[in-house]
Amino acid sequence: QVGHTQRVELVPGRAHAVRTLSLKPLLFEIPDFLTEEECKLIVHLAKLKGLQKSQILPTEDYEEAMEMIEISQMDIFNLLDHNQDGQLQLKEVLTHTRLGNGRWMTPENIREMYTAVKADPDGNGNRAGIQQYWVCCLSELLSQPVVCAGQLRAVHCMLVSETCASLPSSRKRKQQRVMRLTRLPPEIVEHSEPLQVVRYDQGGHYHAHMDSGPVFPETACSHTKLVANESAPFETSCRYVTVLFYLNNVTGGGETVFPIADNRTYEEMSLIQNDIDLRDTRKNCDKGNLRVKPQQGTAVFWYNYLSDGEGWVGELDDFALHGGCLVTQGTKWIANNWINVDPNRRRQQQFQQEMER
Ligand code: OGA
Ligand code: CA
Ligand code: FE2
Repeated sequence: QVGHTQRVELVPGRAHAVRTLSLKPLLFEIPDFLTEEECKLIVHLAKLKGLQKSQILPTEDYEEAMEMIEISQMDIFNLLDHNQDGQLQLKEVLTHTRLGNGRWMTPENIREMYTAVKADPDGNGNRAGIQQYWVCCLSELLSQPVVCAGQLRAVHCMLVSETCASLPSSRKRKQQRVMRLTRLPPEIVEHSEPLQVVRYDQGGHYHAHMDSGPVFPETACSHTKLVANESAPFETSCRYVTVLFYLNNVTGGGETVFPIADNRTYEEMSLIQNDIDLRDTRKNCDKGNLRVKPQQGTAVFWYNYLSDGEGWVGELDDFALHGGCLVTQGTKWIANNWINVDPNRRRQQQFQQEMER
């Protein structure tokens, strides 16, 4: 029931609390789903990606680029400087390069890296050098040509990018957690849309909406459309599940609102009551039935469709209507992890077979 908390082992040996927020839609909240560092990495990657889209990277002028994506030298240094003594000890760099599954950076590698950036391996890390190391890392992750600006020589950049090759396993670990949370099979979770990162500035909001649309016999799903090879007059994204991550703590506002969840406050599902449009998240968030406060690392997860009663996806759940409330102060970062399932079981299976090939 609502308010009930389940303990679920999302990470081996570690129980996460999964709290039921509503039954209509079926909605859960999971604190600490992502670590602070995972949140920061997703935000940093999104910034870098945005930058690349606008054709600013790769560039020789990487200092300027770093400024634009707001990854300051200090940020990166502080991230690595675990004991906050203002110096980078070898073991601190080591801890933060344990990103791989089987592929780790050895102390030997790190020493080489320190030499490359002309730093004393037992003392201060050269900040600019460390920064360049991260640029290489992020470029690699985004499958971009490795940016080797300035004094970092190509051979060391290669060494660094090899370490970075293990970064995708960080994505795998998150996927694993999503699978354990939703109890959906890997074939479905792995072949869903890539993470979508959204930034709201002060004044930003997102009026209430559905993440997916209704499905008629003549509706195609975006993800299975190609393999289905059918021409359909309608198309929708078929996002069976939404897993939403809060990537930072918002100074003011920015809750996620479910205006008619559980239908507790309003007798009818009617969205306009006494001239008040509950879908307006600029004005009327406070009148919605359920609000979730953004908290860094927390995930919320809900179903956009009901079950068909036979173990498959059924009709759209109108109660899944939701929106992002006005950000009154600061910035809000979220990521959407949508899981796509075709309500047509045969088409989904056909799609999965094709993906395996
Ligand atoms: C979305 C969304 C809610 C929020 O991005 O689809 O519903 O709290 N966001 O930002
Ligand atoms: Ca230190
Ligand atoms: Fe949404």
